[in-house]
Amino acid sequence: MKIRRFKALLFFSVGLCVVSFLHYYKALNQIPMLKELSNSPANLKHLAALSRFLWKEKFTGGHDISKNAAPGVQSQAFLVWRPSGVKSQRPVEDTGMFPQIPPEPSRPMGDLHLRTFQLKEDTTSYFARTKSGRMCFRKGTKTSTKKDNLGESQPKESYASRRALLAVQSGNRSLGPAWNSSVLAKRSVRCRCLQGWHGYHCGIPTVVQHSNLPTKSRLAPREVPRRVINAINVNHELDLLHARFHELADVVDLFLICESNFTAYGARRRLIFFEQLMNGTFDYVRHKILYVFLDHFPEGGKQNGWIADDYLRTFLSKNGLSRVHGARPDDVFIINDADEIPVWEGILFLKLFDGWTEPFGLHLRKSIYGFFWRQLGTLDVLSGCTVGMLFAVYKGNGILLRRREYYSMPDFRSYESNTGHILIPWSIGSPVHEAGWHCSWCFKPEGIYYKLISAQNGDFPRWGDFEEKRKLSYIRELIRTGGWFDGSVSEYPPTDPREHMYAPKYFLDNYDQYEYLLRNLYTEKKDWMVTH
Ligand SMILES: *[C@@H]1O[C@H](CO)[C@@H](O)[C@H](O)[C@H]1NC(C)=O
Ligand SMILES: *[C@@H]1O[C@H](CO)[C@@H](O)[C@H](O)[C@H]1NC(C)=O
Ligand SMILES: *[C@@H]1O[C@H](CO)[C@@H](O)[C@H](O)[C@H]1NC(C)=O
Ligand SMILES: *[C@@H]1O[C@H](CO)[C@@H](O)[C@H](O)[C@H]1NC(C)=O
Repeated sequence: MKIRRFKALLFFSVGLCVVSFLHYYKALNQIPMLKELSNSPANLKHLAALSRFLWKEKFTGGHDISKNAAPGVQSQAFLVWRPSGVKSQRPVEDTGMFPQIPPEPSRPMGDLHLRTFQLKEDTTSYFARTKSGRMCFRKGTKTSTKKDNLGESQPKESYASRRALLAVQSGNRSLGPAWNSSVLAKRSVRCRCLQGWHGYHCGIPTVVQHSNLPTKSRLAPREVPRRVINAINVNHELDLLHARFHELADVVDLFLICESNFTAYGARRRLIFFEQLMNGTFDYVRHKILYVFLDHFPEGGKQNGWIADDYLRTFLSKNGLSRVHGARPDDVFIINDADEIPVWEGILFLKLFDGWTEPFGLHLRKSIYGFFWRQLGTLDVLSGCTVGMLFAVYKGNGILLRRREYYSMPDFRSYESNTGHILIPWSIGSPVHEAGWHCSWCFKPEGIYYKLISAQNGDFPRWGDFEEKRKLSYIRELIRTGGWFDGSVSEYPPTDPREHMYAPKYFLDNYDQYEYLLRNLYTEKKDWMVTH
């Protein structure tokens, strides 16, 4: 009895320690931690959310703090943009970045947000059979000059098969019966891989070959490709959206794009993606887009911005997937922020191969304001799993997937044993083989301004609340120096636009149009200082 009571006491004190540590950690690390948070790795975010919760409890005594929320935020939206310096209680004015329009959508939405999408089979012929019957992945295999001889290499190129061939010819049976001459003839011709592709079929891209996938030796091409669903919430990241569509339109079967007529802060916002979807801007990929419209703001989202943030992703995945017909459990679901763009090779691999484990993440190259300010390390963000796992373990909710809490999900083990799948998380790419881009705050200065004022009420300090930080001249200076709103300037490794993973191909191919993301426009010219 005594021992048991002692144990209880011990647990209690340990718990107390953890709670006080969180307080301490919060106070001690407020500034660097918030910087980390701005890059929003999900795990840190939720640690922070927890500590913030405890923090709030302490100071409000657990009382409702909704009285602090801005009154009349919605009604103030869509004010005309005034030059900075004009006093404003709360930063809710529209930027003028977009022309003035009436608050209601200028076009009727009709049933666009109710339509369903029928997933079709992907009948693309990704593999080619060689004369000897070998399946070679077309995009990863050298095409030989001889017709119909797709990249087959002759026996002389492989030392091992040559040795085996000689052994068979000389009648050496110790290699075993499997190595008779007809088998050998087939095995000795292999696919000749292009640079960047690996494996038996030249279908394994470098970002998988050099990843921490534990089952690399068990990968096998599928008879029927999986379908890939990519879900994104969009605010005003329209340039990044074009880059995503150009990067992924060939490998993704369906984009679920969610837009709300509220900002994450709870203010009214224009449906700028909807408008461009209707005016033809996205016609090149229109047939792969299912539009998801969030027409309400979650309760409590104004007081605690994390609620709004999470709710957007929950709504995106639940509403979006409920309108998709024909999905199979082995199809792939990937949820990204609009500023996270995966490279196509990694996603195509998921589509074409069996044998990988789930859930999976992506190592993304990190940069801020543009691709010229590259940040150290990669952002490894848990982003996807099969549709089967999404529903069985995560209840169809993409936000649960993005938290690294799979092991504590109640149905994790039963899904594992029911399906026989090996559930080991891994990440496409590695710290040196980036599998995509995470470009945060990658806008023109006006777009950064807009992001500031529409940011959720949670990531404190909320820089949009500081008038001097909203000035375009201040924002341009941040872009010029790579500085942060708290006054700090980071160390950035040098970048070179000729690097393999400098920026998505679409931006580089349209350099003039997207120069502001590819080159620091404010380092040389300083005349903007005069004009503002
Ligand atoms: C047959 O192959 C085995 C294994 O490679 C080798 O050790 C042996 O010497 C070979 N025998 C002849 C007769 O070539
Ligand atoms: C070689 O082996 C395969 C299967 O192991 C068998 O089907 C085939 O008949 C064999 N061919 C010869 C020439 O022994
Ligand atoms: C669609 O609207 C956007 C912004 O409102 C505009 O920039 C673009 O030129 C329009 N496109 C077409 C095809 O009308
Ligand atoms: C958002 O859209 C819904 C449905 O059209 C509408 O009822 C609501 O008033 C809109 N909210 C704002 C802030 O525009």
